[in-house]
Amino acid sequence: MQLSTRVLASLLAVAGLAATAAGLRFEVTNNATTTPGGQRFDREYGVGLAEQVLAEASCFVWKIFNQSLPADRRPAVDDRVKLVVNFVNTSILAFERDSESSITLNAGYVNNITGDGEVRTLVTGLLYHEVTHVWQWGQQDTSSAHSWVYEGVADFVRLRAGYAAPYWVQPGQGSSWDESYSTTAWFLHYCDELRPGFVAALNEKLKDGYSDDDFLQIMGKPVQVLWRDYKAKYGG
Ligand SMILES: *[C@@H]1O[C@H](CO)[C@@H](O)[C@H](O)[C@H]1NC(C)=O
Ligand SMILES: *[C@@H]1O[C@H](CO)[C@@H](O)[C@H](O)[C@H]1NC(C)=O
Ligand SMILES: *[C@@H]1O[C@H](CO)[C@@H](O)[C@H](O)[C@H]1NC(C)=O
Ligand SMILES: *[C@@H]1O[C@H](CO)[C@@H](O)[C@H](O)[C@H]1NC(C)=O
Repeated sequence: MQLSTRVLASLLAVAGLAATAAGLRFEVTNNATTTPGGQRFDREYGVGLAEQVLAEASCFVWKIFNQSLPADRRPAVDDRVKLVVNFVNTSILAFERDSESSITLNAGYVNNITGDGEVRTLVTGLLYHEVTHVWQWGQQDTSSAHSWVYEGVADFVRLRAGYAAPYWVQPGQGSSWDESYSTTAWFLHYCDELRPGFVAALNEKLKDGYSDDDFLQIMGKPVQVLWRDYKAKYGG
């Protein structure tokens, strides 16, 4: 019984996926097969899984952003989302080139991951984060002082998908809402629990770039007050 319910659920999920992702292509290339990290990617992850995760993560982002209609979504360049595994000699794990809907995963990071079975979880989490950058509004703003909000939303999606990373801060940690990445993500999670759909509304406002006033308009309280309440919930 349990099994057949699960099979049915996954069939429905695949059907839904095919429908919502129709017309989009998810293209993965491993351009680092001569490096240890690129080889490990092929062994422990693989191009096929990566294509599937890009599609699933895209559907997940649209759900978080409350964009059931394709017309609501930010368009992807040439209707495709690309992922290239490359060796990049920096400490960057992955990045997304906004003008190309293209994600680069650093093979050097894959090579550095320690622990059996960790590649699957950590790379999937990273792909949820980077795919969020493909779909979120307002990326014209990222080079400015507000990159924290875009990184925070991307980590919020990763968190909601169940892929919070072991190297993240704990909920309630940090000294300001704009410390970016997981600090911001846990705070957005707090706001979204208070008002379900908060992050969807915030994403919509980011079309015009970020303003502190977005919090006041959506939550009815200034961001400073929300942050104080959030810290208080975790004992200051
Ligand atoms: C593939 O790797 C080569 C050498 O590292 C690099 O020059 C090239 O730009 C890469 N191609 C892509 C699509 O990233
Ligand atoms: C990475 O760059 C550093 C210095 O910039 C260099 O010493 C090192 O050999 C490079 N590593 C690889 C694998 O290319
Ligand atoms: C991988 O580890 C090496 C050696 O510790 C370090 O120099 C490099 O920055 C790391 N790369 C990434 C992407 O984490
Ligand atoms: C999602 O969007 C619809 C309109 O497109 C709106 O009616 C609904 O309230 C939104 N849901 C949330 C949780 O914000």
